[in-house]
Amino acid sequence: MAGDHEDSSPTSDSDWASSDDASLDVTTLASSVLNYVYKVRLAQITTYHTLPTPNPDCRMAGDIMPTAQALSQPNDDEEQDRMDLLHHIYALILDGELHLAPIKSHPERVLDLGTGTGIWAIDFAEVPPNCQFEVDDYEADWVYSRPFDYIHGRELAGAVSNFDRLFRQALTHLKPGGYLELQSFRVEVYADDDSLDRAPYTTKMCALIQEASARFGKPMANMDEWADKMIHAGFEDVTCKIFKVPISPWPQDRKMKEIGKYFQAQQMQGITSYVPELLSMMLGWGKEEVDVLMAHAKRELVDTAVHQYGKLYFVYGRRPVK
Ligand SMILES: C[S@@+](CC[C@H](N)C(=O)[O-])C[C@H]1O[C@@H](n2cnc3c(N)ncnc32)[C@H](O)[C@@H]1O
Repeated sequence: MAGDHEDSSPTSDSDWASSDDASLDVTTLASSVLNYVYKVRLAQITTYHTLPTPNPDCRMAGDIMPTAQALSQPNDDEEQDRMDLLHHIYALILDGELHLAPIKSHPERVLDLGTGTGIWAIDFAEVPPNCQFEVDDYEADWVYSRPFDYIHGRELAGAVSNFDRLFRQALTHLKPGGYLELQSFRVEVYADDDSLDRAPYTTKMCALIQEASARFGKPMANMDEWADKMIHAGFEDVTCKIFKVPISPWPQDRKMKEIGKYFQAQQMQGITSYVPELLSMMLGWGKEEVDVLMAHAKRELVDTAVHQYGKLYFVYGRRPVK
């Protein structure tokens, strides 16, 4: 695997919004980020005003599949707010950038797999005529007639049963020199000290979710395999970058504390959205024991003496030119 490294300090400073709000409500926080200003996005808006009228060939295809993922992929308003909050967290980590793959500056054709609310695709397309949404199943045969410059999939861990096949299809549907990039958090908590001793339910919950999602056939923690699978599929210059992301606002550093505040809110909602169904359907847990586990995990989530962080993976590779 080329360029594999771990990095806990994402790029340069952003314009930080005031962040004293201690709310953990995912809807409130999701709407509050609408006013957020990122340095990089400002620069891109300036560029946007100088762009020519959008070329109808420059389009985004965003796939959404509301039914096939029924068991482990909730799709209600709270889940959509959670995904929009995650979009904000990604933007904070990348200082407003939307990708790490070194794609060319004006890709003509881009595909966003499992687009969700479409927030990434709309941001990437910059203007609505550039973005087209299609309802499709990315695990079925792809029937696109023209290849893409860039294929992107974010937070698809737990939503793919066969990554080998997904990578082979992506390779086939990329132009030579085009990039595939996957971005996803791993369902696992880490700490660099012994403070996870204070969070046994969180650790247990993550292990159970991993087990349940694997039994369901769409594992949520297999991203360490993605780079090798991409190489095996035929990609070159495959790179895996891993960011440490605080799960609650425990860090002293202002930027990390801010990210932790948003992550804590989305994690609170993520527990409610994913844990009951996965544990009851796949592991046979009863409602009461699920409720007890979630209550303890949520209590540990607000305990800032627990220095928990998650790992965010960016894995990308290029289709060979020849
Ligand atoms: C966790 S969400 C991520 C949404 C979006 N990528 C983002 O980062 O905001 C996963 C999305 O994948 C979609 N999905 C799951 N399985 C799919 C499939 N087989 N085909 C197409 N979309 C799928 C779900 O409907 C959901 O919108």
